[in-house]
Amino acid sequence: MQIDVLTLFPEMFTGVLGTSIVGKAQQKGLVSFRLVNFREFSGNKHGQVDDMPYGGGGGMVLKAEPIFRAVESLIEPSVEGSGAEEPGKRPRVILMCPQGQRYDQKLAEELAEEDHLIFICGHYEGYDERIREHLVTDEISIGDYVLTGGELASMVIIDSVVRLQPGALGNAQSAVSDSYSTGLLEHPHYTRPAEFRGWTVPDILLSGHHENIEQWRLEEAVRRTLERRPDLLEAEGISEEVKKIAKRLKQQL
Ligand code: ADE
Repeated sequence: MQIDVLTLFPEMFTGVLGTSIVGKAQQKGLVSFRLVNFREFSGNKHGQVDDMPYGGGGGMVLKAEPIFRAVESLIEPSVEGSGAEEPGKRPRVILMCPQGQRYDQKLAEELAEEDHLIFICGHYEGYDERIREHLVTDEISIGDYVLTGGELASMVIIDSVVRLQPGALGNAQSAVSDSYSTGLLEHPHYTRPAEFRGWTVPDILLSGHHENIEQWRLEEAVRRTLERRPDLLEAEGISEEVKKIAKRLKQQL
């Protein structure tokens, strides 16, 4: 997977992209990153990438040209048999902004299937509307709050997408049983010692009885979801078994 980021602050990314699962995924060749400072595409000797808004008012607006030129520099012209980008298979060009579609695990799974993602991160300013209208394929927000720029938001998306690449996680199972992938929050986990400051691990987890343990985990996952995120149990694709457990637990409340 190729992931490119347009930003005026490439240095913000070095720690995150080089560390832990994402850093290892890069070393294993599962993902490759390019950080592009779009100031280099300003087309003027001052490196100016923003300008005053037409119609007046405060704040600056990111100009269309540097962003278009930077994105175009990353999209290889598709020459038949050249191994360049397949015709018709354009990269997803993602604008980070608070007005975008709200990010969630379903969108992470969708983006994880792509070969090429390009993120556009603005800072402080708004974007010239022609970037939205004629360049980007997606506008994404990571939540209902305003950050100083799209950089942190794009790193959240990159992290969640890279860990879904086959081979990125040590234990292939751990992405499958994630909170949100199963539609439920995760069940509680315990590790040694069996007693810590007088607090003990539930007996069933020490019993060695796998079937009962699985049943307990499912029930605890449903209980946690019911307590913290009951809305998730109304979603499509929730199994009859889970619905039955939820109904029984609700009666016990
Ligand atoms: N840029 C500023 N705030 C943002 C948010 N919540 N999500 C994505 N990009 C942003």
